[in-house]
Amino acid sequence: MDTLDRFSINNIRKEYLDFFRSKGHLTENSFSLIPKNDKSLLLIGAGMAPLKKYFTGAETPPCKRMATVQKCVRTGDIDNVGLTARHLTFFEMLGNFSFGDYFKKEAIQWAWELLTDVLKIDKDRLWVTVYLDDDEAEKIWHEVVGIPKERIVRLGKADNFWELEVGPSGPCSEIYYDTGADRGCGCSDCKPGCDCNRYIEIWNLVFTQFDKDEQGVYHPLPNPNIDTGMGLERVAAVLQDKPTVFDVEPLFSVVKKVSELSGVPYGSNDKKDISMKIICDHSRAATFMIGDGIIPSNEGRGYVLRRLLRRAARHGRLLGIKDIFLHELCDKVIENSKGAYPELGEKKDYIKKVIKLEEERFRETIDSGMDILKSYI
Ligand code: SER
Repeated sequence: MDTLDRFSINNIRKEYLDFFRSKGHLTENSFSLIPKNDKSLLLIGAGMAPLKKYFTGAETPPCKRMATVQKCVRTGDIDNVGLTARHLTFFEMLGNFSFGDYFKKEAIQWAWELLTDVLKIDKDRLWVTVYLDDDEAEKIWHEVVGIPKERIVRLGKADNFWELEVGPSGPCSEIYYDTGADRGCGCSDCKPGCDCNRYIEIWNLVFTQFDKDEQGVYHPLPNPNIDTGMGLERVAAVLQDKPTVFDVEPLFSVVKKVSELSGVPYGSNDKKDISMKIICDHSRAATFMIGDGIIPSNEGRGYVLRRLLRRAARHGRLLGIKDIFLHELCDKVIENSKGAYPELGEKKDYIKKVIKLEEERFRETIDSGMDILKSYI
């Protein structure tokens, strides 16, 4: 197997699940992007979200150790998509979870083993962060794993405490990959926590110890748990030595298709590249959302979908694409992902139809708006 096949998204997904199966985890396919029996969330944005009931003890898990690859949509960082090497609204999260079973030591050791022994990432390029007062995690990273103290950074609540509006939460420890000084900002104190593209956070290990209520009060959980999340597209970019997540397949095929449809070469103009990346990300998000049964509307999840599609359509116009085009990108998205997500293959025609209708409707709205504007002028 050559490097690209070995580190393809499809193969990393498999290696991750195989590894945690060998550590006694029950592995499950991704849950839907639509939360089930959970009114506190609009969309699933983390591997732990569909498993909240097991963390809080509301339900008994089928196994105390689980691992999943979860489809996620997060729009909090939408303005960074296309601008940075790493932000996406749709991504896949590789996660291993312990419900009152193993804790910090095993979570840290296994993460290190997978990254360095199985995936063979250069140890010297890995940095870690720990929560301000988490001496225990620092000790494990330094004494058990052997990371030098200079590559362990302590960060505060904004970076190293993981929580949703309500539910399981706790301090975390993140693993970063140093992509090299030439991809960074050049500041002398550039290190994990810096906003530039040099250090890419690839894996977040959360030591889930609290259940946060609607009033923001943290209640200690009866058993400490583990919730980890690694960005699949990010780790693939690292393993394939690509500068951004958009240079990794299957994302790159979508970017190339946008370039072909617009006639704008990728890599020729920064602003145009950003538009291509935004279109790539949003069309992937829309394809998976519609595949899970979401349709464009003016509220809730449907509104998120509508915004993503319209934003992508607008960037298409900026690239000079005159016709509707977003539905054509679905083929590329689906081709490479339907093995892991069969629902995409099964609903391909439906997904394309929904996207086509929404884009047509948007174009009519814009055209009639332009007519009104012209008549005023
Ligand atoms: N819940 C954590 C995150 O989403 C780790 O999985 O980053």
